[in-house]
Amino acid sequence: MRRPLVAGNWKMNGSRASVQTLLSGILSGIEDVSRCEVAVCPPFLYIPQAQSMLTGSPVAWGGQNLSTEAAGAFTGEIAASMLLDFGCTYVIVGHSERRSLYGEDDALVARKFAVARDSGLKPILCLGETLEEREQGVTESVVARQLDAVIEAVGVEGLGAGVIAYEPVWAIGTGRTATPEQAQEVHAFIRERIAAQNEQVAQDLRILYGGSMKPGNAGDLMAKPDIDGGLIGGASLVADDFLGICRAAQESVA
Ligand code: PGA
Repeated sequence: MRRPLVAGNWKMNGSRASVQTLLSGILSGIEDVSRCEVAVCPPFLYIPQAQSMLTGSPVAWGGQNLSTEAAGAFTGEIAASMLLDFGCTYVIVGHSERRSLYGEDDALVARKFAVARDSGLKPILCLGETLEEREQGVTESVVARQLDAVIEAVGVEGLGAGVIAYEPVWAIGTGRTATPEQAQEVHAFIRERIAAQNEQVAQDLRILYGGSMKPGNAGDLMAKPDIDGGLIGGASLVADDFLGICRAAQESVA
């Protein structure tokens, strides 16, 4: 049985004061999360604050990005070892905003995945098609290309050290969620593609959905057999909304 994961991707939002308020709200409202995992991914600067507030709680934390390099003359970059130094469990790699706005291609994302995994972080690998690609009917080939690049770099067993997040780009921050059926279709496709290489990895790997997930739609999405939680943007910045999604994840496991 796969344990669902609800991970908040705060993107470039927050201040010391708002992080204090948001994490206090999450900690005071968090109920039974024995059947799921919960994590938040703050901007780098707020990770120490998250560590000091979340240590000993059921909420893990992680980064939103990492460097492929270990140390040295790489101005502006953050190494995997630094994330580990501040207790991170997870790191997001290949988010569509990194791909589209910062030119991260499949090969770079695959290297980031490999570095994260090799250092002991759990990479959350984001995959997803644009609206144009969906309309052209190439969703599966786009997702397959993004997935295969990582499998090529780390092997299918290596992929199993991480988590996948299917995030249709047209659903991110738009309020336009994929229907549970649309999401399930792609999740099943991803799982089958992995199963063709290693059935066990495919069965164990968590595939999260991301893209305008809210408390109101989380239950229906996570009820689908191949949707094992969510990567949450906007709703992860509001304690009650994030908690509502955590509750849906907990309830999605019988
Ligand atoms: P959203 O973002 O929930 O605001 O759509 C999801 C994401 O980008 O990870």
